Amino acid sequence: MPEKARVGVLISGRGSNMAALLYASRLYDCPYEIVVVGSNDPDAAGLALAAAEGVPTFAHSHKGLKRAEFDAIITRELEQAGVTHIALAGYMRLLSAEFVTHWQGRCLNIHPSLLPKHKGLHTHEAVLAAGEAETGCTIHIVTPELDDGPILGQARIKVLPGDTPDSLTVRVQYAEHQLYPRVLADFVSADQRPEALLTRVRGLALNLPAAAEKLSHGSPGFFIEGGKFFAYFSENHHGDGITALLLKVSGLDEAAMLIEQDPDRFFRPKYFGPAGWVGVVLTDGPDWAMIEAMLSAAWRLCAPKRLAMLPF
Ligand code: GRF
Repeated sequence: MPEKARVGVLISGRGSNMAALLYASRLYDCPYEIVVVGSNDPDAAGLALAAAEGVPTFAHSHKGLKRAEFDAIITRELEQAGVTHIALAGYMRLLSAEFVTHWQGRCLNIHPSLLPKHKGLHTHEAVLAAGEAETGCTIHIVTPELDDGPILGQARIKVLPGDTPDSLTVRVQYAEHQLYPRVLADFVSADQRPEALLTRVRGLALNLPAAAEKLSHGSPGFFIEGGKFFAYFSENHHGDGITALLLKVSGLDEAAMLIEQDPDRFFRPKYFGPAGWVGVVLTDGPDWAMIEAMLSAAWRLCAPKRLAMLPF
């Protein structure tokens, strides 16, 4: 089974969504675990709950700090905990562009309305004032714009006669507690699917100068225009059940060294002869910074001189 996604939850208050995520994570087969809970408010009630449940916590007050400075502290904490994904759950802070870029595509938020309706604060008041017949909650990927970003899931509730902001809060939260664990589980699993992994590899490989892609023996291969292949994306190649990236390395020695260092991560690809290729398993939360570095090293090994001189 692939390794679980390591989720950091950021809260500012009660933390009922954090609790819903945490308890769901302990059910059989959940593809994520909550590895840390953090807050910008040391008194956030959810912190005590997380600590009581044995989850590491941290809190830093944002007072007196610039937004980006504060966010850098939060990123450091999350990285120290080895977080792969962030779930914002009632985190009442606007995020700096640096933070959003750093965690791009890996940070989700919950908002108590059917986005794109009623962004920002006081949503239930706005729903009632607008005479909506229904409302609900939304999970979306965080982008620089507040309460924007691709929607991953929504749950709907009816607005009833006599509803107040408080009564809506209660029912919307019932819906939130169902929706967030489900969407987060789907989202982190999607990360592991071959299509998602290929998209990520493709983004990195085609970013290299003169890099292009074509199918080679049924596998997407990345080559330098007019030149050699430097990487192949391999999905269940010859029925091996592995999703991996096959990369050119400097020779057999380097391949052997990598495999010896981390035999669960690296392997010798079959049918590649002794030319100096190594396979990197992609399905258990790979280190993407390392993969980016290895892709660019592979590219350099294959690039003609005029391109290899380029600084990048
Ligand atoms: C939730 O209703 C969420 O939609 C909003 O803030 C509230 C947080 O509640 N962003 P809790 O701290 O999870 O109980």
